[in-house]
Amino acid sequence: MYKLGEIMENLKELDRFIKSSFRKVSKIIDKIEYKVENKTNERDLVTEVDREMERLITEAIKSRFPDHTILGEETYNPEKDYSSDNLWVIDPIDGTTNFVKQFYDFSTLLAYFENGEPMLSYIYDIKKDELYSAMKGEGVYKNDEKIETPENLGLNETLISVDIRRTYQYMPELFGKLVMEGFGMRSVGGSGLDGIRVIEGRFGAYMNFSGGPWDFAPYYLFCDELGLVFKNLDGETPSLSGYSNYIIATSKVYEDFKKILDELGELK
Ligand code: IPD
Ligand code: CA
Ligand code: CA
Repeated sequence: MYKLGEIMENLKELDRFIKSSFRKVSKIIDKIEYKVENKTNERDLVTEVDREMERLITEAIKSRFPDHTILGEETYNPEKDYSSDNLWVIDPIDGTTNFVKQFYDFSTLLAYFENGEPMLSYIYDIKKDELYSAMKGEGVYKNDEKIETPENLGLNETLISVDIRRTYQYMPELFGKLVMEGFGMRSVGGSGLDGIRVIEGRFGAYMNFSGGPWDFAPYYLFCDELGLVFKNLDGETPSLSGYSNYIIATSKVYEDFKKILDELGELK
């Protein structure tokens, strides 16, 4: 067992280790041969690259911390209890549809939690070689450049992004209101890089109708460090223990969302 705080002392070293592991795995991405398979439905895709990326990141972590727990999208077992003092959450390729259809705008997501507290977060835009990272108390960085807290703009002043198909399918009234009341709607097509647009102040919000813990794990720390809102549509912090809807937003856009949800009777 690791003594309490031991990881915290080594956080900077750990951060260097993770960053170099990312860059190593990104170099092999276009060398892996893959065929595309379906998971839960015809639009839920997975490739060998997803599995191989998860395997490589898991191996890197396990080689250093054999007793740490790993919750990875491709090896996730809903029956398993992932509660752990040292938990890593991996989405090996987020935006697999983008990966398959345009080989652009996909990313790897990784977050580390100690005793349930977010300590490290990463979103790596593989094609652009841009690494977004955060260490508890140290702010958020894009490569070596510190990201400032985005301007607190409201819904009618900003671009917003949603998980288009499911928001339209399951919450059509909300979708319509967001299209009409927001300054404009855009979508990159991946929870990782859509959320990053909010982190960088390019979008005022990103909402996902239902994501797994791997889709949103880095946002606990990113949003904490930047004073952004990260909540589910009931106004609570999403739980890592299962699927959840979530919104990453400036506090003004979040308030505007709440008003709309209240009007529609969607908020408890
Ligand atoms: C998906 C993407 C997509 C979002 C889904 C996610 P995947 O992740 O982030 O944009 O709408 O909710 O599951 O399957 O590409 O890792
Ligand atoms: Ca994902
Ligand atoms: Ca994925």
